[in-house]
Amino acid sequence: MAAIGVFDSGIGGLTVLRALKQMLPDEPFVYLGDTARLPYGSKSPRTIRNYLHQNVAFLESLGVKAVVVACNTASSVLEGDDLHGLPLYGVIQPGAQAAMAASQGGAVGVLATRATVASSAYRHALERLQPGLQVVEQACPLLVPLVEEGWADDPVTETVLQRYLSEPLATGVDTLILGCTHYPVLKHVVQRLAGPGVTVIDSAQTTAQVVKNDIMRGRLAATTRPGGIDVFTTDLAPGFRELGTRILAPYPIDSWSLADL
Ligand code: DGL
Repeated sequence: MAAIGVFDSGIGGLTVLRALKQMLPDEPFVYLGDTARLPYGSKSPRTIRNYLHQNVAFLESLGVKAVVVACNTASSVLEGDDLHGLPLYGVIQPGAQAAMAASQGGAVGVLATRATVASSAYRHALERLQPGLQVVEQACPLLVPLVEEGWADDPVTETVLQRYLSEPLATGVDTLILGCTHYPVLKHVVQRLAGPGVTVIDSAQTTAQVVKNDIMRGRLAATTRPGGIDVFTTDLAPGFRELGTRILAPYPIDSWSLADL
């Protein structure tokens, strides 16, 4: 039975895959981490769109039944909800919805890559849900390399986060969106620095719920045979498996192979 494809530029999308596996334990998943071309967040929309097409084509060649674009930067250039005839699930709309459900009506902060901030995709999604809402977007280009390096709990990361959070917190946001799938790895640090009055949101759970709803409503076929998690990366950097295993725990990686795009 066909798997669900999930991709990101690196390990970040594993935070979404974990939520998917938790909600849909029997579904087989194929994950693609485009580690050879990371980061996406510093690239232009044209390049990101090319990567998106190539990644979806690769997953399609493996016979997946749908693709979860577990990358905000790639989701920010999505133009429809299918590609190559496959249903696509982005993470920005579910993230914006989760933020609106959590906000008490105050300003909303968005931490994201440069490309996601430049696209204004979150601003537009949030303003569609609540016109007139105050949105503070903060580009955080140093966070992805820190997460890929496994430095979530390093004092350097805390110092960098303090700087990125200063403007949203000075504006008095009551909700902060982790608008990059790498950032949930830093959620505990962001929450500590932001304080108890700020709700820190990521789109993993809400995105997984959207996929689950489609399966429950018959819009996406449910698997008939339980399956695990097969991972492909475009570079076989040794740190990926160790860090990836930690993020996905307790769900194991069944296989790890090179994707030659
Ligand atoms: N994790 C990705 C995102 O959600 C992109 C990180 C990057 O490659 O810059 O935006």
